[in-house]
This record gives sequence, C-alpha cells and structure tokens, in this order.
Amino acid sequence: MNGLFFALEGIDGSGKSTQLKLLAKRLEEAGFPCLTTCEPTERPIGRLLRQVLTGQVRCDSRVVATLFAADRLDHLLNEENGLCRALASGVTVLCDRYYFSSYAYQSVDLPLDWVIQANQPCADLLRPTATIFIDVDPELALERIVQSRENTELFETRDRLIRTREQYFKVFDMHRDLEKVIFIRGGRDIDTVAQDIWERVRPFFQGL
Ligand code: ADP
Ligand code: TYD
Repeated sequence: MNGLFFALEGIDGSGKSTQLKLLAKRLEEAGFPCLTTCEPTERPIGRLLRQVLTGQVRCDSRVVATLFAADRLDHLLNEENGLCRALASGVTVLCDRYYFSSYAYQSVDLPLDWVIQANQPCADLLRPTATIFIDVDPELALERIVQSRENTELFETRDRLIRTREQYFKVFDMHRDLEKVIFIRGGRDIDTVAQDIWERVRPFFQGL
C-alpha cells in the first residue's frame, strides 16, 4: 500500500464527519489528493445496516456485528471503489469510522474478543496509518445529535454513548503496542479542533 490511511473515530456527535471534511480540504490544499469515505458504506450490506440503525430491520446483535465486519471487508476489497485499490494508487484515504467503531460499539452487547475476531480479516488486510479519536463528553455529543437530527438512531442514547466511550478507551489501551492512536479533545470549537488535528497529522506527510 502506498497511500496513507487515517480512520476517524469517536462516539456519535463527536464531530468526525465535520473534521473529516476539514482535514481533507487542508490536505488537498497542501497537494495531497484524498479519498473521503465512511462506514457503514452505501453498498448493499451498508444499506441493510442503515435499516438496522433506523429500526426498520431488527436483528440479533451478533448479526449486527457480523454485518459491520462484512461491510468493512467489502469496503476494503470491492473491485470498483475498494480502499485497498485506492491506497495502491497512492491517494490518502480518510475514513469516518473503521474497526475500532465495531470494537467499541458492539462490545457493549457482545464479548470484545469475539468482535475483534470477527474483524480479524480486515485488520490483517489494512491497519490505519493512524486512528484519530475525537473525544467528547457523551452529554455534549447527545446535545449536538438532538440539535442536528430529526430522528436519532439505534445507538444514539445517553447510556449507550457513555458505555461506548468507555469501551473505546479500553480497546485503545489493549492495542497500544499495535496501533497508532491520536487523541483529540473534541469539546472545543470546530476550528480549534481542526487546527489540532492538522498539527498532529501534518508530520506524516513531511518528506513525501
Ligand atoms: P459525527 O460525524 O461524529 O456524528 P458531526 O460532525 O456530524 O459528528 O457533528 C454533529 C453535529 O455537531 C453537527 O451539527 C455539527 O455541526 C456539530 N459540531 C461538530 N463539531 C462541533 C464543535 N466542535 N462544536 C460545536 N458543534 C459541533
Ligand atoms: P455513523 O454513520 O458514524 O453515525 P451518524 O449517523 O452519526 O453519521 O455511524 C452509524 C452508527 O453505526 C453509529 O451509531 C455507530 C454505529 N457503528 C457501529 O456500531 N459499528 C461499526 O462498526 C460502525 C462503523 C458504526
């Protein structure tokens, strides 16, 4: 793989999608073409997952976790617009959520080891250059979600956000020797957070 791959992580309402766009803009301006993408994807398994998240389709949490892992594998490997292909062509890929999302969200209902195992094929194929974790207080995140959305999704409840944030810290600690994680304080204004992310990401591009 030639391109760099950054995953943005955080609980719902942490500002990932806002920051992903701002980071892509800065990178493009600095002369580094970017592909921005997100999970769940717009592909068939991702569309099914959206129906699960909005409550149209109900299924067991083990099925939900398996669908996320399958959507991710498809995201990596599909022939048409798979991430592995994009990275091989040298572009930088920025993705809103990757396997740490599954570890943190699905381990609220399921054994964490099981969730990690389900995602092992993805981890074997592609580890992020770095994961950018935007940390916000769950109360603030919920406030932002309620203000910005008409309907809330399956995991967008106060208790779930609190538990998920705890699980993120647990899995980052478990993987500290294997994964590069950049911690960002997301409770500040958008431009301050963007500047902080930029300063932490820029060194990866020096000399390229
Ligand atoms: P996520 O992708 O993590 O769910 P979003 O980027 O969609 O989060 O942000 C959720 C809402 O919060 C949006 O309405 C966005 O404009 C707002 N928002 C994002 N970052 C901040 C910030 N630093 N301060 C205040 N509001 C923010
Ligand atoms: P996302 O699209 O980031 O949320 P939003 O609706 O705020 O744009 O993610 C959708 C939801 O799916 C979110 O609640 C987190 C959850 N999720 C998992 O539970 N596991 C995963 O592996 C991923 C990628 C997302």
